[in-house]
Amino acid sequence: MVSSASSLMAVALSVALASEAVIPSSPDDYYRGLHVALDNVGCGRFWDALAMSTAAATSAYLLDRLYADESFTLYAPVDAAWSNSTVADLSPRDNLGYLLSYHVVQAAVNSTTVAPSRLHTIAFTLYRSANSDLPGNQTQAIVLQSEDQSMPGQPDAGRILIRGDTWNATSIGSQVAYANVLIQPIDKVLAIPSSLIQTLSSSGLAILANMGATSYIAAIQAVNSKDSFASCHGCTFFVPVNRAFEQVHEAFSGLGADHQRAVLLNHVLNGTVVYSPQLLQQTPYVTAGGMPMLYLCSDDGGSRLRVGRYEARIVRSDIPVSNGVVHLIDTVMLETVNNPNRAWQA
Ligand SMILES: *[C@@H]1O[C@H](CO)[C@@H](O)[C@H](O)[C@H]1NC(C)=O
Ligand SMILES: *[C@@H]1O[C@H](CO)[C@@H](O)[C@H](O)[C@H]1NC(C)=O
Ligand SMILES: *[C@@H]1O[C@H](CO)[C@@H](O)[C@H](O)[C@H]1NC(C)=O
Ligand SMILES: *[C@@H]1O[C@H](CO)[C@@H](O)[C@H](O)[C@H]1NC(C)=O
Ligand SMILES: *[C@@H]1O[C@H](CO)[C@@H](O)[C@H](O)[C@H]1NC(C)=O
Repeated sequence: MVSSASSLMAVALSVALASEAVIPSSPDDYYRGLHVALDNVGCGRFWDALAMSTAAATSAYLLDRLYADESFTLYAPVDAAWSNSTVADLSPRDNLGYLLSYHVVQAAVNSTTVAPSRLHTIAFTLYRSANSDLPGNQTQAIVLQSEDQSMPGQPDAGRILIRGDTWNATSIGSQVAYANVLIQPIDKVLAIPSSLIQTLSSSGLAILANMGATSYIAAIQAVNSKDSFASCHGCTFFVPVNRAFEQVHEAFSGLGADHQRAVLLNHVLNGTVVYSPQLLQQTPYVTAGGMPMLYLCSDDGGSRLRVGRYEARIVRSDIPVSNGVVHLIDTVMLETVNNPNRAWQA
């Protein structure tokens, strides 16, 4: 992983548009223009949904929010995508406003600058609700990357993906600019990240991760930590996949409950949500068990973690969950030191 390229955060790009943006001086003109711009790229139903969502208390702010001296990027599902989604009826429910706010990024993210395949660009949306439990009033993020270009020169080259837990949304056509917004049509209605437990129990994730993450749920349950992990307020979870638990089955099950709990705590950063572009070498992260955690990049582009004398490879990074982010790893790091004071000071 090339950390300089991957540290490309959407917020840093928000200056790109501002200088050229001409924002109509009347809100009516602005909204008419936005409607036309969305219609022109086959996203009329996204406009309808935005207009309708203003009837819901929690989302009345969405259109107001766009008419501002700031840049935004709309990931607008094309009209056909709404028919395919389970939210085909666009009623002005509060949920619609929440859903739409997850399609609006608070920065200008030019699709041509999205990180290449295997690296990610993390873009913060406007989505925030009682169900999302992120630190410091942070909003929920979407994870972007450009599509694999194993065959450059193909007509598809230049497409971008939005990576969900068990799905990818793909860009359709190129991005267009309107006033202070960039509009990128996409082929799906995005799904708001669900809880840690729901995400890790999904059978779709098991297939994609090629090993699943259900042993982890069993392990946190066995040491009575399921609830404290599930309600951890804005946390980074390094989750060993099932195969990793199989590999240490005897060693792990031979530990007492306290040591097992310590091992699991040493796979969590408590109170901070660290996406892969923010994982930096030489930064001394401290786990919820109070142990230092080091992040290492190797020459072959792989990223590893080290806790004590154990090392794990990240096999899939940046799965957003309602209370933080999950990175799947290939090894259970059997570090049994638990030093809550040091964890708390961190
Ligand atoms: C919607 O679903 C149909 C049938 O599964 C599929 O052919 C079509 O490509 C889908 N459209 C979009 C925009 O995903
Ligand atoms: C969080 O941010 C929103 C929108 O910017 C603001 O309305 C709200 O007051 C903030 N909440 C806290 C606790 O800072
Ligand atoms: C999403 O895209 C990534 C990168 O190309 C791929 O590895 C993964 O299998 C895709 N997931 C789905 C659900 O198609
Ligand atoms: C994105 O950046 C490219 C390269 O700088 C530029 O040609 C293109 O117009 C930009 N796209 C939008 C929608 O502004
Ligand atoms: C995270 O820290 C909070 C506050 O110190 C604590 O109450 C909670 O139990 C911790 N959670 C985990 C999983 O370490």
